[in-house]
Amino acid sequence: MPNGPGSPSQVRYPTRRRFLKSVALAGLGAGLAGEGASCGVSRSSDSGAPLVGIARGKILVRKDIEKATPNEIAVLKHAIEVMKKESKNPRAGWRGQANIHQVSCPHGNWFFLPWHRAYLYYFEKICRKASGDDAFTLPYWNWTKSPTIPQAFWDEPFSDGTRKAAKQDKAKDEFVGKEIVDRILAINDFETFAGGATKELQPEKQPGQGRLESSPHNHIHNFVGGNMRTFMSPLDPLFWLHHANVDRLWTTWVTAHPKSMPAAKTWLELPLDFFDFEGNPTSMKVQETLNTHDLGYRYDTQAETTAGEQRPSGDGVGHESVSEEFRASSKISDALRVGTAAIIDLFPSGKLREHLGFLANAPLQSLKESEIRVTIRGIRPPEGSDLDVRVFVNCPSVTRDTPVSDAHFIGSFSFFPTGSSEEHGHRGRSLTSVFLDGLKTFRALRERKLYDPQGPLQVQLIALNSDRESIGTGQLIAEQVELDYLSGRT
Ligand code: C2O
Repeated sequence: MPNGPGSPSQVRYPTRRRFLKSVALAGLGAGLAGEGASCGVSRSSDSGAPLVGIARGKILVRKDIEKATPNEIAVLKHAIEVMKKESKNPRAGWRGQANIHQVSCPHGNWFFLPWHRAYLYYFEKICRKASGDDAFTLPYWNWTKSPTIPQAFWDEPFSDGTRKAAKQDKAKDEFVGKEIVDRILAINDFETFAGGATKELQPEKQPGQGRLESSPHNHIHNFVGGNMRTFMSPLDPLFWLHHANVDRLWTTWVTAHPKSMPAAKTWLELPLDFFDFEGNPTSMKVQETLNTHDLGYRYDTQAETTAGEQRPSGDGVGHESVSEEFRASSKISDALRVGTAAIIDLFPSGKLREHLGFLANAPLQSLKESEIRVTIRGIRPPEGSDLDVRVFVNCPSVTRDTPVSDAHFIGSFSFFPTGSSEEHGHRGRSLTSVFLDGLKTFRALRERKLYDPQGPLQVQLIALNSDRESIGTGQLIAEQVELDYLSGRT
């Protein structure tokens, strides 16, 4: 291959090969998927030069869709119409863009946020070319403030006939409400917030979905339904507004937790590959995605300056390095029946008990770097299911009716993709893991004298059909529950 030694292309090879192959298979190559495209000779200018600084001085603002002007909506409409015609270059066409997601998007690991940020960045640039408006920016859908599908998105070309949600349907508070979103934004640990450490974009085993992904992100995909439940979700124009909001919440988190981003090279230096409007390969590394100002945009909820948005300087450690004495884990022996709680006993070491007791009691300010993380590993939802899972700790009895306001509640999550497996090939059925932040719950229990560090420690899991009505006969496989004291990382 023409890639020279040390070329970033070597690192990204497996994914990329699959990507080019799939583009060719889909008949979209049109003379572009040949050698010329794979050697990286015709990169667009934004990958050839460092991104930092290119757009400084001209930071465009991504706005809440509810505040978009009629003209801004018209530009987006025009861009989508042009892309849907799939003109000269199919990769920049509507389906071509969705194919990129189908093949390359990482889920369940710490590349989730940077990859989707870069994806939106290149998509926005394509929209600018397609619409002829250089100042175009993607709007976002703030589902916490407005949990119904934005009004404008029921008209062509913004609608999608495959959706399940109706106009008046609201996304669930349990997943997108202010309380849960605030809780997620308060998580100190990057992996718990955003996804677990791994070396590859798409490892066989997902290290773990962060809270932003497993809760609001997954829920919105399922709530909208239809295409949005599959890896071809970018076919629904709402996808872009949904992910702009996820991306926006990342900026909010960074401001609240400066210096908390990983410093690991495996993360910072991984190249993320896309195509530009002309169909040429283009790419940026994770480290180039970290500050939206470097990419020439900010959200209307972000400060005009970059103050508060910092370069990574954390330690970049991964969860695998939590030492055994700070981890309690138990296997789950039986499949979970939908509607019935499973109780998993954990057996913490004396040292872990001591630290759990300490975290539950200590003044909050002293806990900057601490988190009690509960991880559910090896999860495999039933095919085509629409399940939500709730997790509790030391709850005397968990039923379908135990409310999420219960002090023992740790968190809930749902799945993505949940469409049938043909729609996304083998990737849709991979085992996943989910991280949940437990510190807040342990502290709430301690405050109410409901938690004794010396007593038994149990985690309860209950899977519910998302409509909450039907009891169902489905089963959910989950292999293991773990509880980690994250400051015990070595
Ligand atoms: Cu890669 Cu919300 O999707």
